[in-house]
Amino acid sequence: MSSRDGEAELLVASSDATFARLGADVIRGIWDDCPGGATILATGWTPIPVFRELAARHTRGELSTPQCPIVQLDEYVGVEDSDPRSLYAWLDREFLTPLEIDASSVIRLRGTTADSEEECSRFEAAVAAVGGLHLAVLGLGPNGHVGFNEPPSGPTARTRVVPLSPESMASNARYWNGAEVPVEGITAGLDLLLAADVVVLLVAGAHKREILRRSVAGPESPEVPASYLRRVSRLIIVADDDAAAGLTPEEIGSRHQPRI
Ligand code: F6R
Repeated sequence: MSSRDGEAELLVASSDATFARLGADVIRGIWDDCPGGATILATGWTPIPVFRELAARHTRGELSTPQCPIVQLDEYVGVEDSDPRSLYAWLDREFLTPLEIDASSVIRLRGTTADSEEECSRFEAAVAAVGGLHLAVLGLGPNGHVGFNEPPSGPTARTRVVPLSPESMASNARYWNGAEVPVEGITAGLDLLLAADVVVLLVAGAHKREILRRSVAGPESPEVPASYLRRVSRLIIVADDDAAAGLTPEEIGSRHQPRI
């Protein structure tokens, strides 16, 4: 793997518990280094064990409430916070409430505003006003999407409304027990995410193996939006054994630092 500006690391976890611990250690370390730096967070299934590990540390008194602005990564268009499918409600349930983060410190990206273009501009201005993103904690879509930056998305993609791809809708259907999956998302743009000081990409499961390989070892391509993450100043991939299997040091490049 090459990272244009800085370093990149692949941390491979040999068990679910290690994945949660590694992810939490990495995030905590970044918060400690830059306590006020804005943090944007994915929802989805992959970060849940990491969020729960952070919450457990908070409950045990080992981790205080982060003092940084929290930024919402994405949302379904037309979905209110009270809707069980709300991604903000998911973030609140799994991260904000357990870590006792006040909702007023969250920069929201709402899918229910009358004027979504204005919402995207307001969101980008609010992130700029806190100095941009310090940390982005992201998951990897089955089609290489990050946030809802669906293929094709290039590195200059702005915060915007996007139609969800059939693959993403199928993947998101896992969350909602047969409830209808919204057809559009609103997402922080890839340009904003690539400007973060640090990106932590969480990847778990054999079904993510091939798309992870294409993201870190294939050519940069709008067809694999995650392939542009190699451009960030510091990219840390926390993967489990199943997702990282078969990635060779040659593919990863000289900055590969395996940890088990
Ligand atoms: C969710 C999000 C998505 C997910 C991705 C992986 O806020 O931004 O990009 O991170 O679809 O989802 P899981 O982790 O459920 O496989």
